[in-house]
Amino acid sequence: MSPPVRMEETSLLWLLCVSSLLSCPTTQVSLTVSPSSSQMFKGQSVSLSCEEDDSSAGWTLRRNTTRDTRTQCEDWGSPAGSSCIITYMVSSDSGVYWCESREGATSTSISITVPGGPVILQSPVLPVTEGQDLTLHCRTKTSSNLTASFSKDDSFIRTGPAGHMTIPHVSRSDEGLYRCSISSVGESPPSRVSVSGNDLSVSMVMTPAPQAEEGLDDGYDDVTTAVTTEHHF
Ligand SMILES: *[C@@H]1O[C@H](CO)[C@@H](O)[C@H](O)[C@H]1NC(C)=O
Repeated sequence: MSPPVRMEETSLLWLLCVSSLLSCPTTQVSLTVSPSSSQMFKGQSVSLSCEEDDSSAGWTLRRNTTRDTRTQCEDWGSPAGSSCIITYMVSSDSGVYWCESREGATSTSISITVPGGPVILQSPVLPVTEGQDLTLHCRTKTSSNLTASFSKDDSFIRTGPAGHMTIPHVSRSDEGLYRCSISSVGESPPSRVSVSGNDLSVSMVMTPAPQAEEGLDDGYDDVTTAVTTEHHF
């Protein structure tokens, strides 16, 4: 009897989808930025695209800046297939970028700044998953291998002799505002690095159902509320 089995599999997939940070089957979209950095130099060219499992059809790239909100690629970039190219970044391109479907579903938003100074910190645009390595690069417009010093929340961490440093196996305590400086050139502005947990699906799936005799409804309501607020696309 295959239909009942398939239904259970589908329900399980949806349970996992709703109860975890995994993306759901129908609305997975992510915004990718190339080069992948939260800070960009003035004059630099950048490509942004909304990438879905099957196609990018129906997704619109939008941004908020200090001047405008919810504007589309046509207003500030050049559409190129499923990508949007900004050929010459200027400080007014600083803002929050995201992909949005016709139904209003949104991707994780990415914050990009064009500081206009001589040094930028290249940090991940999306949260780093707990346990992964975090690599930070410090660079000038023309050079990426000058000795740099890195700080977190205004405390010196370490020197990167070749312009970069790696924190292995990040944990939540590595979250913070990072910046870097290159002596006799200058300092970058700070960028926030976020760390996301990777254990939520496990803890949710493993949560035992409350005993039928003692307050089953209350227990389930609490779990359901917690789960739906963690729903990411
Ligand atoms: C963009 O701006 C609008 C209007 O101020 C706001 O409602 C929305 O949350 C902003 N989006 C992001 C991703 O910051």
